[in-house]
Amino acid sequence: MNIPLMKKAFLYEGKTKKALAKFILSTDKLSMGPKCEEFEKAFAKKQGRKWATLFNSGGSANLALLQALKNLGRLIDGDSVGFSALTWSTNVMPIIQLGMKPVAIDCNRETLNVMSRQLLNRLTQQKIQAFFITNALGFTGDLQEIKSICKKNKIILLEDNCESLGTELPAGKAGNFGLASTFSFFVAHHMSTIEGGMICTDDEALAEMLKIVRANGWDRNLTPKSQKRWRKKFNIKSEFESKYTFYDLGFNLRPTEITGFLGLFQLQYLEETTNKRESNFLNLEKIILSNDELLPLNHEHIKRLSTFAIPVICKTVSLKAKYIKRFTDAGIEIRPMIAGNIERQPFYDKYVTKKLELPETDFIHDNGFYCGNYPELTKKDIETIGNCLRQK
Ligand SMILES: Cc1ncc(COP(=O)(O)O)c(C=O)c1O
Repeated sequence: MNIPLMKKAFLYEGKTKKALAKFILSTDKLSMGPKCEEFEKAFAKKQGRKWATLFNSGGSANLALLQALKNLGRLIDGDSVGFSALTWSTNVMPIIQLGMKPVAIDCNRETLNVMSRQLLNRLTQQKIQAFFITNALGFTGDLQEIKSICKKNKIILLEDNCESLGTELPAGKAGNFGLASTFSFFVAHHMSTIEGGMICTDDEALAEMLKIVRANGWDRNLTPKSQKRWRKKFNIKSEFESKYTFYDLGFNLRPTEITGFLGLFQLQYLEETTNKRESNFLNLEKIILSNDELLPLNHEHIKRLSTFAIPVICKTVSLKAKYIKRFTDAGIEIRPMIAGNIERQPFYDKYVTKKLELPETDFIHDNGFYCGNYPELTKKDIETIGNCLRQK
């Protein structure tokens, strides 16, 4: 493969691996501990939120977030949860797994995301109690308007920001518009801890419940003050008893100290990654704009574009076949537009009988694909991708 979806497991891979080896040799503790906490604090500060809770993947973060909201009674069995029809499988699966009803909301072909218009349209047909929006491929919808619609309609807004770390709108960073947001640090994301995920929130009760959900339902990772409160509530009198007391539903979704170490180490390169991804995209976008076989993306509402990939939306299905052949012949690894229209996925068909009209997401599914965008792309790589995007 000439230009793979990603080239390395980490940015500055040599330096990162050396530092990781040194860390492993120097520490006695490799299960979740102080490095994870240090990374959580640093990430919360960087993102501009009060609390961050580290998980072993972005998918785990999505599952834990919905479980925590159920434990807190803010969502209940049978609630309808809206989601962006263009998303990843493990954004939607937890809605089904946790006994709630997924409601697909159409995305816009020009922004690849749900816009307030699409949300309002769906709300005329049905009520939802929460909206787990996905900020897809580094782009977002008009999140400020979406936030006000949710507030007005008493809808809990959650953001799956696994693909848009670093993207900023005039009103704030992607991931800071809802009650909580999730992130992924899987290889090829904006920063990598090999596997890893995070949840950010300003809501203290939710942050506390996330720690219970992350580790078996127990209180061991809570502050002494919180532990005291939980133990008093359930009449747990001794430290001995508290060790195996399980307060609410949880999983084991813990990261390791390796995740924490890598997160802290890679965080120092996040600005550089974001800038490079943005400039790669903006350079290639000039070629897309001059090609009338391709649909330009609208990102006027976005101030800083931390793209995840280079999306290519063709005006027709047959043009898509032509461009896929070009990319493949040039040795550029490509992928479908994430999970496409999720309603067309076998798992969704199996578990959800009620299907909704999603014309825009269908268009993105049928006409789009993407190739990788990352800082290690060379000038020559950008030229090769550019050549494939040029109208000939
Ligand atoms: C939108 C979205 N949500 C969730 C995830 C899951 O993240 P992970 O692979 O870390 O489980 C991904 C993965 O790429 C994603 O793109």
